[in-house]
Amino acid sequence: MKKTYYITTPIYYVNDSPHIGHAYTTLSCDVLARFNRLEGNDVFFLTGTDEHGQKVDKAAKDKGVDPQSFCDEVSLRFRDLAKFMNYSNDDFIRTTEPRHKKACTELWKRLEKNGHIYLDKYAGWYSVRDEAFYQESELVDGKAPTGAPVEWTEEESYFFDLSKWEGKLLEFYDKNPDFIMPESRRNEVISFVKGGLKDLSVSRTSFKWGIPVPGNEKHVMYVWLDALTNYLTAAGFPDDMPTFNKRWPADLHMVGKDILRFHAVYWPAFLMAADLPCPKRVFAHGWWTNEGQKISKSLGNVIDPIKLVEEFGLDATRYFLMREVPFGNDGDYSRARMITVINSELANTIGNLAQRTLSMIQKNCEGKVPEVNLDELMKEPRARVLLDLAQITLDEIYENGEAVIDSHIKQCRFHKILEDILQIAVNGNMFIDELAPWTLKKEGNVKLMNEVLYTLAETVRCIAIMLQPFMPASAAKMLDQLTVPANERSFEFLKRKHALKSGTALPVPHGVFPRFMEGEKKA
Ligand code: MSP
Repeated sequence: MKKTYYITTPIYYVNDSPHIGHAYTTLSCDVLARFNRLEGNDVFFLTGTDEHGQKVDKAAKDKGVDPQSFCDEVSLRFRDLAKFMNYSNDDFIRTTEPRHKKACTELWKRLEKNGHIYLDKYAGWYSVRDEAFYQESELVDGKAPTGAPVEWTEEESYFFDLSKWEGKLLEFYDKNPDFIMPESRRNEVISFVKGGLKDLSVSRTSFKWGIPVPGNEKHVMYVWLDALTNYLTAAGFPDDMPTFNKRWPADLHMVGKDILRFHAVYWPAFLMAADLPCPKRVFAHGWWTNEGQKISKSLGNVIDPIKLVEEFGLDATRYFLMREVPFGNDGDYSRARMITVINSELANTIGNLAQRTLSMIQKNCEGKVPEVNLDELMKEPRARVLLDLAQITLDEIYENGEAVIDSHIKQCRFHKILEDILQIAVNGNMFIDELAPWTLKKEGNVKLMNEVLYTLAETVRCIAIMLQPFMPASAAKMLDQLTVPANERSFEFLKRKHALKSGTALPVPHGVFPRFMEGEKKA
């Protein structure tokens, strides 16, 4: 049955150009969105930009431009990055859009009506870089725990009664053990909430760049209340409730570990207070360092995803980012590792298997899928082992609805999925070496040669179908070379009954994963 699947990225601050962190978060969502589409689910994949608040206001002022045109320009760069990285987002939301102002105003009114908002005065520390309030006790050497500078702030402010939500939140985490992932992050959040919550300041008066508080336009809404609401806006809230009810609650909010608290504590509290359902899951991934060093503008070691792609190619970059680090952990970008992974896994293993198989078919089978009797072939133990390996991997990863959710995908174990796919290719290459199909024809054993080459081609088909979420363009090239029709590439078609048809004419093959040679550009 078709399920709806609503997945979101954080919306990105427009104070800065996109970097590897942004590209990484969205890439992981793109992989999940594509996965779900290939499983036949009705996917809604959202990304966008976070444009209000003091940080963006200040960045615009520093540039000497009005905030709106500043946002227009930087937001466009994020939109361009999405196209450039081949992300398949269904919507791109900007918090300066009228639809979003409407949603925020409506949410505010509901919170107010339900008695969760009151007017008082804020006196405390604020970090513009983090757009977060900090208690004195949280400061480390006079700075935010994130290392960001803080400033003393005193102003009239509306408050949300967060302190009252401690028990409800703990109950919610308890009833929904998978709400926060990975497990270690869940434990962090629970102990934070158990430590006690203070009411949260949810409006500012010292600047104007935000959504006005309904009924008191001296105040603009706190940028995190504004930003989090984007997930409701894009789902249709409040004007298109039929669509909203279909999409909401979101299946997954993907976030970096630094913004987990906003999504796993404030957000469910706001939603419960407004009588709206909470999202099903928040997954917090780790951070990248660059050659062992923390990435920062001041160190000048920010990784530009566009440069990576220009040098290594888009799909190789996508593969590396999802393959190198167990998702959820911090990871280190190393140029040497990138080259090793591209050459050993993509070029020498997957690429080599496809290229060897297809060129042997071209040369020895008149460029047609070899003639075999598939039922008989499955009785051949060595072929069966290889074909089953693909099948078992698929069963574990992709089939049986729940099994998918329960295994790698639910845990976002992208590296593990790629490892499993790679293992099939390793076995495929061993199979070629062992059975040496090039000698079989010479020895007059055409039947066995056909069986070996067919088995390999079918293995390549399965590998390519499975690689689609990670490397859509390269997987499509592989499937084109096997003449698999565009409407036969979903996971349903991994099943053996959809295996390659003997006699199908194949085009002359060309390599899909070239070796990386220093000095060559591959956009
Ligand atoms: N605007 C807020 C999110 C609001 S969502 C309702 C925000 N924006 S951000 O642009 O600063 O960050 C967006 C994402 O980039 C975060 O998930 C963050 O974890 C991620 N990354 C920033 N630097 C990163 C790395 N070095 N490595 C991996 N991800 C990192 O926060």
